[in-house]
Amino acid sequence: MILIIDFGSQYNQLIARRVREAGVYCRILPPATDLEEIRRIRPDGIILSGGPSSIYAENSPRIDAGIFSLGIPVLGICYGMQFMIHSLGGSVKRADKGEYGFAELILADQKGIMGGIEASAIQVWMSHGDSVSAVPQGFITMAQTRNSPCAAVADHEKKLYGLQFHPEVEHTPQGHIILSNFLFDVCQCRKEWNMASFADEAVLDIQKTVGGGKVILGLSGGVDSSVTAVLVHKAIGPNLTCIFVDNGLLRKQEAEKLRKMFAASLDMDIVFVDAGERFLSALAGVEDPERKRKIIGKVFIEVFENEAMRIRGAEFLAQGTLYPDIIESVSAFGGPTSVIKSHHNVGGLPEKMNLKLVEPLKFLFKDEVRRLGEELGMDAELIWRQPFPGPGLAIRVLGEVTEKRLNILREADAVLLEEIRAAGLYRKLWQTFAVLLPIRSVGVMGDERTYEYILAIRAVASKDAMTADWARLPHDLLAAISTRIINEVRGVNRVVYDISSKPPSTIEWE
Ligand code: XMP
Repeated sequence: MILIIDFGSQYNQLIARRVREAGVYCRILPPATDLEEIRRIRPDGIILSGGPSSIYAENSPRIDAGIFSLGIPVLGICYGMQFMIHSLGGSVKRADKGEYGFAELILADQKGIMGGIEASAIQVWMSHGDSVSAVPQGFITMAQTRNSPCAAVADHEKKLYGLQFHPEVEHTPQGHIILSNFLFDVCQCRKEWNMASFADEAVLDIQKTVGGGKVILGLSGGVDSSVTAVLVHKAIGPNLTCIFVDNGLLRKQEAEKLRKMFAASLDMDIVFVDAGERFLSALAGVEDPERKRKIIGKVFIEVFENEAMRIRGAEFLAQGTLYPDIIESVSAFGGPTSVIKSHHNVGGLPEKMNLKLVEPLKFLFKDEVRRLGEELGMDAELIWRQPFPGPGLAIRVLGEVTEKRLNILREADAVLLEEIRAAGLYRKLWQTFAVLLPIRSVGVMGDERTYEYILAIRAVASKDAMTADWARLPHDLLAAISTRIINEVRGVNRVVYDISSKPPSTIEWE
């Protein structure tokens, strides 16, 4: 087991993910964790994360320097390394100028964490102000870059290592070798972490947190809330009540399908609320996207609250919050690191009803959640569903949302998804959807001139929705989609394909 000490880097979760990908269990704890606690946990190794502070700053995070004498291997990354070196008597130079971006790391020592790296120089990703200028006694410099004379340092005997660069990011292509050297050669970890053990751990954790209390969960039918529901249900069974709000903004037959899937295969207590009319009347006449979102959010909360209040004795609210939901802006470096995506929360309800949050997926990334879903034996169709926004089709019907426009979009979207599935592309794409534009254009059908809506197709590839590229769909497929939509969906006479990437565009049009 590896302990990661969180010094505030935006990459902490990524370190955790890399460790778990290598098959080793890890936990992230704050610097305030005391030595006793660490001794009790008995980790095989400790990773000190990076962080935005300078060790000279007044409130810079610190952990008891006694961790360096526990006989447990430690790997300090960036700020973590500076903290280690400073604590052990080396020097850290305050920066006049930082080092950000790619750097060439020249290796002088290829033992320990640098074992198995064939080249004598590798590309690494730097992001720091301060840097180590002299190592403490017992340490050697393993590698340097042009701006960092001590870019990798080691006390091989005590198994203390420091890296100025970030081995956890993709921009350090050999980073996984370095991390895996630390895990397996230095710490002697065993590869025994997988989704099965995560599920077991999470179930125990939920049981411990919730005890005999009652839990409410807002089920959207998406992967995250569904996996959360199954996990929580596995932990506490009938003490979980799910609320599914049909806002009338779902795709074709979606509500029925979900109802069948959940009610039939998962023996859960689910309250289905048919609130379509309420949402649509609140949206009548509204064109502004921000206002639409606000209205939908507000009505959702009202409807959800109303149902939640009826569940007597509820103490907890379970949510399928994922790591990317918490950190949306991985805006290179120095930018704001954590912007909570408010639309993922049932705003205000926890305080109002005095509910405590249960978020068992908050350290997982989407692909891990899917693997967890598989592990829990969930339906593949559910697990592999593409993300779908909370405000649903309302942000894909540009301009005013009416039942008529929603129906046109629903039909077109169904054709699109059918073709994408038939082409075997559904799982490969992050999202594929249709957008109904609020303008019409001229066409000709038979001998008649038509004046109908324009429909846009959006298909993007992405890893996490933070960036996305438009998918290079085959022209023949686009042709088939366009022909079918124009022939089969009344109200559309023109189909266009969106060829914009994010950034600068977004995935949704709104
Ligand atoms: P954008 O359009 O900002 O979307 O590139 C990024 C991802 O977030 C989804 N999205 C939402 N999800 N509620 C949600 O639950 C929302 O209001 C919302 N807006 C966008 C979008 O589908 C994409 O996956």
